[in-house]
Amino acid sequence: MCGIVGYIGPREAYPILINGLKRLEYRGYDSAGVALISEKDAQLNIYKTRGKVDDLEHQCASKDISGTAGIAHTRWATHGEPNDVNAHPHCSQSESLALIHNGIIENYLVLKQLLVENGYQFKGSTDTEVLVQWIEYIKVTHKVDLLHAVQIALREVVGAFAIAILEKDRPDQIVAARRGSPLAVGVGEGEFFLASDASPFVEYTNRVVYIHDDEVAVISREKPLKIVNLNDVAQTPEIKEIEMSLSQLEKGGYPHFMLKEINEQPQTLVDCIRGRINVEANNVVLSGVIDNQEKFLNAGRIIIVACGTSWHAALIGEHLIEDLCRIPVEVEYASEFRYRNPVINPGDIVIAISQSGETADTLAAIKLAKSRGAFIYGISNVVGSSIARATDSGSYIHVGPEIGVASTKAFTGQVTVLSMLALTIAQLKGTIAPDDYTRLIGELAGVPDKMEKVLKTDPQIQELSKIFTYAHNFIYLGRGYNYPAALEGALKLKEISYIHAEGYPAAEMKHGPIALIDERMPVVVIATSDSVYEKTISNIQEVKARKGRVVAIVTEGDEAVTDIADYCIEVPRTDERFAPLVSAIPLQLLAYYIAVNKGTNVDQPRNLAKSVTVE
Ligand code: G6P
Repeated sequence: MCGIVGYIGPREAYPILINGLKRLEYRGYDSAGVALISEKDAQLNIYKTRGKVDDLEHQCASKDISGTAGIAHTRWATHGEPNDVNAHPHCSQSESLALIHNGIIENYLVLKQLLVENGYQFKGSTDTEVLVQWIEYIKVTHKVDLLHAVQIALREVVGAFAIAILEKDRPDQIVAARRGSPLAVGVGEGEFFLASDASPFVEYTNRVVYIHDDEVAVISREKPLKIVNLNDVAQTPEIKEIEMSLSQLEKGGYPHFMLKEINEQPQTLVDCIRGRINVEANNVVLSGVIDNQEKFLNAGRIIIVACGTSWHAALIGEHLIEDLCRIPVEVEYASEFRYRNPVINPGDIVIAISQSGETADTLAAIKLAKSRGAFIYGISNVVGSSIARATDSGSYIHVGPEIGVASTKAFTGQVTVLSMLALTIAQLKGTIAPDDYTRLIGELAGVPDKMEKVLKTDPQIQELSKIFTYAHNFIYLGRGYNYPAALEGALKLKEISYIHAEGYPAAEMKHGPIALIDERMPVVVIATSDSVYEKTISNIQEVKARKGRVVAIVTEGDEAVTDIADYCIEVPRTDERFAPLVSAIPLQLLAYYIAVNKGTNVDQPRNLAKSVTVE
């Protein structure tokens, strides 16, 4: 949450910072701001506003935006409402320091009290303003330079942060630091970039250094990158190559990133399985599993921790692993897992799933499981992310940057990796018959073509969406593998259209939600042909008997459901284990078009953020 950007070098900073903020708006978008050291009068100019980056640009149109050193921020409010005062950058009392921050300072009240007792005054209610004042206080009382003040100050700070600080009298440097929140430094020729991820500087350099926890980076004009820890011990920067391309960060002719990402899925699935599934050689090789095969062969239990859409992928993983590998699996919300006293036995494996690789609760769950001796396997999309680094081994989903806040291609990528993981373990353990192994490899490799086909239902779904634009509630039902798919369909709808939607196991509906059903209630049922198809039909009958309006996702050629449902969307036949990969697409499209009809901000829905780095 919150995006930070910084630049120092020979170019004008403002356009780089503004474009960078636009790329990071997925991280939060309730206020934005920029600080620059003016070329004209060496003043520290700070402009900030409630609203989006466009609003900031509008405000800056008539201002002095000159300067070759600057920092900028897009906010997702935690402490203090999103208004102009609480927007970042925040300034210290003497107005010589400007600071941007992503994260939460947990002991800000204690620090604030101390600062107030020492004559400091505060304009807003954020923890960030406390942090910048705290750094200034240390700088003044210890009579040290900014770097040392930051090191000393951060030793007393409890919480998570990625920060960048601009000092009025030092236009030649920016000081940045992190603990728990992501921070990347782009290394150019005689220039440096700072950002929450590499996307703001991908067109300027392909070299990046990911800052680690409790490291402070100093980026200076004409000097090499300096990284030290909080005790002033020099750290060697590890330069990596950026893997994303500019075209991946653009809409490519689509009206929204979400629609682009839905349509990319046949290709992203090919990218996800490339080099892992080999149909001719009849094998699936997930190297993270193979490298740790003893652990997987001897695992007594697997616990999967995740949040949001990743948690839904985890539920499908539970079915796959129990079904194919005969290993007991538990799925936990990371936020719940971390705050109870979970039993972790020797030999348990914890799988952490996170698209962004930065989700604070998932990261904390990993740390807890690690401290209790579990082997941790990560499934993430972002190379070099905090979760990728915190895990013992893992697999990337390789679906390319996901910009739309509502997750689409990452979900199908996660389910695909879990499918490959289950097949790899099942083969190693001998819990799958050779014929089934061969058949399922072929089925999984064939999913991208089926996705291509199901994307052709787009015009039909667009038409269908018009009927439901003004619905106030939705119920989504499914059984077996289709139950998590129903949860995910409901989540997509509520995230972007703000229509209340509940996902439920179809049979469980009669124990409560059935009371909600009348002629106004749309019920989406995922009723593809599988081992519980007949049972699902009975559940549809229960809905119809109460006059609910049924939208069914069915297998091509279906007759029984088609006869009773009000509307049907056909998807190609696939093994039930991989059915959620195919049925995800019409559910994503239905949510998308209903949101478009309602005129909501599809890519940046209200109150949400893509990367939740606060608990
Ligand atoms: C946020 C996003 C969701 C996402 C969840 C978990 O709430 O809005 O789309 O599913 O975080 O994110 P992760 O990056 O850990 O998968």
